[in-house]
Amino acid sequence: MTDTPRLLCTGLTRRLPSGRQMLTVLDHVDLRIDAGEFVAILGPSGSGKSTLLGLLAGLDRPSEGSVQLDGVALESLNEDALALLRREKVGFVFQSFQLLGNLTARENVLLPMELAGRKDARARADELLERVGLSERGHHYPSQLSGGEQQRVALARAFGPRPSVLLADEPTGNLDSETGRRALDLLVELRDAEGATLVLVTHDTQVAQVAARRVHLADGKVVKDETGQAASAS
Ligand SMILES: Nc1ncnc2c1ncn2[C@@H]1O[C@H](COP(=O)(O)OP(=O)(O)OP(=O)(O)O)[C@@H](O)[C@H]1O
Ligand SMILES: [Mg+2]
Repeated sequence: MTDTPRLLCTGLTRRLPSGRQMLTVLDHVDLRIDAGEFVAILGPSGSGKSTLLGLLAGLDRPSEGSVQLDGVALESLNEDALALLRREKVGFVFQSFQLLGNLTARENVLLPMELAGRKDARARADELLERVGLSERGHHYPSQLSGGEQQRVALARAFGPRPSVLLADEPTGNLDSETGRRALDLLVELRDAEGATLVLVTHDTQVAQVAARRVHLADGKVVKDETGQAASAS
């Protein structure tokens, strides 16, 4: 019924200072992502993947062009409105977990839901901790948890407020391959259950095979956009 894309980038450009010059880090990217899609963003180091994700999240502002989330142009919002929209709609998972060290696992999961004023925050925090297999570890601080456990807390935290978009920047990058695989399975499982649109940055082509669509960046441009089951990874 609705044709509004979940995310729509038009002419999305980001320039950043590099010494005395400006470097074009993202160069007129046009990208449409519909509700419920699972998109992997691939590309060599420095190709602009994290920059793109930061712009999609409204954590950074474009030099030119536009990002729309559910039809709302992020660049038209002031910082407060943007923060509210992010709280409401966007979940983010980082390579380095980024849990708050002075909060327990459960408090980390609770925080974004409480900020978003979710009434069911406590029950949902417990439910999510259980779903990521950490119900016994809710009272532990991040420093008492392994990398894989911390990333599972970060996943529970990101999904807590029921974001319509979940953005993940190399979420398995700091984990060994087995632990990373488990974190990825969990991410996909939570996404399936919650119905969020997932945009996953990775340079692991095997990880990318899990996605239904793969967008390749090089030098700040989209150079390939593949949909469907990829040929089996070699
Ligand atoms: N704050 C900044 N100031 C100047 N240049 C920056 C800044 N942030 C990123 N860049 C440059 O922008 C380019 C793209 O960076 P980005 O982090 O988006 O790449 P990436 O594809 O995520 O790479 P990686 O796979 O290594 O994480 C790089 O050349 C980087 O050096
Ligand atoms: Mg990056």
